[in-house]
Amino acid sequence: MTKSRKLKGARIAGIGHYLPERILDNAYFEKIVDTSDEWILTRSGIRERRITAEGEVSSDMAFEASKIALAEAGVDPKDLDLIIVATVTPDMPLPSTGCLLQHKLGAVNAAAFDVSAACSGFIYGLSVGSSMIEAGKAKKALVIGVETLTSITDYTDRTTCVLFGDGCGAVVLEEGEPGDGVLSTFMQSDGGEKELLYITGGGSLTPLTAEGIEAGDQYIKMKGDGLFKYAVKAMVDAAKRTLKEAGIGIEDINYLIPHQANIRIIEGVRKRLKLEKEQVVVNIDRVGNTSSASIPIALSELKESGTLKKGDLVIMVAFGGGLTWGAALIRY
Ligand code: ACO
Repeated sequence: MTKSRKLKGARIAGIGHYLPERILDNAYFEKIVDTSDEWILTRSGIRERRITAEGEVSSDMAFEASKIALAEAGVDPKDLDLIIVATVTPDMPLPSTGCLLQHKLGAVNAAAFDVSAACSGFIYGLSVGSSMIEAGKAKKALVIGVETLTSITDYTDRTTCVLFGDGCGAVVLEEGEPGDGVLSTFMQSDGGEKELLYITGGGSLTPLTAEGIEAGDQYIKMKGDGLFKYAVKAMVDAAKRTLKEAGIGIEDINYLIPHQANIRIIEGVRKRLKLEKEQVVVNIDRVGNTSSASIPIALSELKESGTLKKGDLVIMVAFGGGLTWGAALIRY
């Protein structure tokens, strides 16, 4: 599904992120499962990841990242029309983390909801949020990617526990001119491959029971090699479609922000898109895979580094459980 041909633009007015203070390095995992710093680093590119403090949840991180993005945008929470929270780790099944965040922010005029699209969640949320602005249905929107993945991670499963971390990124969108902000987006999915990444426990199919919890139904299960096969091709395809829709060539792109699942996937995407290493934003070594939060955290860090300039073109590409994949092209 592509989107463009707009009457209004959705400009990026503010960007922020939040990472919990506590760090888990690879040495920690060497103590709890049969793994090594060398395996984790060479197979995934991860050195360390962040983990929430006791009692800290997704809406807390979303609140912190939102405050930064709203302050940069100079937007009062009361002026927000829309809050979209992309997450697979909501505080609770009901109400949505969007609503919990809406209340924490005092965004009394905003509609709020969650988007569940795993690692592509932020791209999906940005696509919906920008579309609402372009259609004239909202003037100011807050789009969040937030995950407390460590709450659904099985710390006895070495194939997943070394990969995931917690964090949040936030973007404030505002009505602007066409050609500024979100230029085009692309989203796709394939539920036929649901066995590659899933959690069974807690849904209507498998409500949580004491036996289910004992068996680990509440934890994420992943077939990493199966996902790997799809990831590079899907991300490259999504990037190309998004660029084509906007009529922009890859040679005009300043930065690529790929979902941070694996440094080898990132490298594969970079090479196929024929971009230079310096153009690719990589933070997987410091934050691991934070699913929906991965791209907005990287975008926020790029902005913080001072290298992102007004007018720069940034292509963001994601791939994750569902399967879901997508891309968004922005002019900062
Ligand atoms: N330490 C040591 N050995 C390990 C570890 C570990 N932590 N984990 C797995 N291994 C072993 C496996 O058991 C296997 O051993 P075997 O050959 O004896 O069976 C061997 O290493 C190779 O395992 P693979 O799974 O083939 O390893 P691979 O090179 O594919 O790397 C990884 C695994 C890092 C998970 C990779 O497949 C990957 O990144 N996949 C994509 C993940 C992704 O894109 N996910 C989607 C987004 S996540 C989301 O939506 C929340």
